[in-house]
This record gives sequence, C-alpha cells and structure tokens, in this order.
Amino acid sequence: MSIDKKYIDLFHKVSVKAALASYKFVGKKDKIAADKAAVDSMRSELNKINMKGEVVIGEGELDNAPMLYIGEKLGTLNGPEFDIAVDPLEGTNFAANNLPGALSVIAVSEKSNLFNAPETYMDKISINATEKGIVDLDNTLKKNIENLADYKNKKPADLTACLLDRPRHKKKIEELKKMNVKLKLISDGDISGALLVSDKKYNIDIFMGIGGGPEGVLAASALDSFDCFFQGRFIFESDKDKMRAKKMGINDYNKKYELNEIISGDSIFCATGITSGDLVNGIQIKDNEYLVETLITHKNSKFRKRLKSINKF
Ligand code: FBP
Repeated sequence: MSIDKKYIDLFHKVSVKAALASYKFVGKKDKIAADKAAVDSMRSELNKINMKGEVVIGEGELDNAPMLYIGEKLGTLNGPEFDIAVDPLEGTNFAANNLPGALSVIAVSEKSNLFNAPETYMDKISINATEKGIVDLDNTLKKNIENLADYKNKKPADLTACLLDRPRHKKKIEELKKMNVKLKLISDGDISGALLVSDKKYNIDIFMGIGGGPEGVLAASALDSFDCFFQGRFIFESDKDKMRAKKMGINDYNKKYELNEIISGDSIFCATGITSGDLVNGIQIKDNEYLVETLITHKNSKFRKRLKSINKF
C-alpha cells in the first residue's frame, strides 16, 4: 500500500503553516509561546485533512498536553488511516533566541507502521549506508569509527561526527578527539543532526549520542526514505518512565530498535525551516510575502526534495 501523492501537498501545507505561526515569536525569548503557536496551527490544519489520523508522537500525554497528545484523533475521520508524529517546533531555544536551526516537523505513515515512542531519551546512531553491521550501538565507539572508515575507504581523521554538545557526551567526545575524528557539536536540534548524514554536501559521516526519543523516531522516518542506517535505544531512567513504556507495549527496556522497527511501509516526512539551519533555509520576507522552505520525503515515490512555497502576509 502507498500513501496517495496528494497527501504530500497536504502535509507540506500543515508544516509550512506551523512554521509561519511560530515565526511570529522568533527572537521573542518565549519558547512556550513559539511552541504553542506551532502546535495550535498544526492541529487545526491537520483537522482539515480527509483522513483518520492518530498522534503517535506528540506533545505528551493528555494530562500534560491538551493538544496533539499521544492518542489524539485528527482529521475529518473520513479517509485513510494514518499514524502521525509531530514536533511542531523543534529547537524551541533556537526560535526563542533567533538562532539557526528551528524547524516544524511532521512524519506520517500508514496505520500501525510508526513507532509509538515514550518521551524519554534515546541513544541514537545514523550513517549513510543501508548495510547492517558497519556501525552498531553495541559496538565500542572505536570499532564503529574504524568500521566506518574502512567502509568509506577513509582514515578516521577524514571522518566527521555530529553530536549534541552535552556533558553526557564528554567521554564520546574525548574518544573521538583521540581518534582525530572531526567534530560537529550542535547545541540543540538532533533531528537535523541525525539527518545530516543523508547527503554528502553536509560532510557528516556519522551522527551519534543521546537525545530525545520522539526526535529519534522523527529522524528515522526521514532516514528511511534516504536509504540510511539508524538505530535507537530508549533510556528509561525512572520507574515512572518504565511504567509508561510498559503501557505502550515495551517490555524489554534495553531493546535496540532497527530502522524498520521504528517505521515501515510508506511514509511522508516534512521539515520546514523557521530560522535558517543546515537542513533548510529559514523563513524569508520578500515583497510582502513569506518565502518558506521545506525538506519533503515520500518513501514509495522516492520523492526527496526541498520545496519552496510563497505565502501571503
Ligand atoms: P526542544 O525543541 O523541545 O527544545 O528540543 C531540542 C532538543 O535539542 C532536541 O533536538 C533534542 O533531541 C533534545 O532537545 C535534547 O534534549 P536535552 O536538551 O535535554 O539534551
């Protein structure tokens, strides 16, 4: 089964509108308002689409998030059944401080094909290869780098690794430095970080490290269309996290998820730039119009493009 191509335009529009709504709060030092604007817009636009949609990755559970909560039904309830993962504002600090990299992100799959991820951290790894066994979360970092260097016919010193710049990655960063691997340390935004392996032009050979689980699932949704490799392992720190995971059907807390266990079948992914970043340009104002750029993938039609749209004030 495939998702009808007409949905590419429909979800593109949803992502663009959410980005525009959030853009009004760029640089206003209010990440909650910037996020809320994107959430409100995304929800109202999704509800206009003829589909039976259900949020599998959203703003949390009903009690903490009145909108786009996990399990929320979206759309006119007339049409195909979709699982929907959203991050209406990825990079809330970027938007609040007018820094590069804020995005609106949505991924859609056919029903029951997108992982229902708990809101915990996830250890992630991505490279541009479909072959398994080159890198693995269970390997030492040294082995992963040496294997990847062999695979790419390069030296470790010629590889670049992208990681979130966090104290929890101190050991990894030290090891990478010791191996002379180039680093790209990002302050936030690891959906974009994980996707930088998807195209040679970004010069990123490997993404690794711990970030948000929902962000991992969203990144995996796009990497699936780019024929890349991704693995993720949730990190459940508290009993509360474990209980919540159990409710979602996760019994093995140490399980390593392969890409095809996170997303399968056909899918659409859209990431719209709010402020300019590595992945897409941010919103630009030109002649009383907003120029907006979105990275879009549709797995079955092998559609992978940055599309520009012009939007009236
Ligand atoms: P928000 O947009 O929710 O602020 O998330 C930004 C982000 O950098 C994600 O991209 C990443 O997965 C997560 O935060 C990392 O979390 P932490 O800041 O706790 O290390």
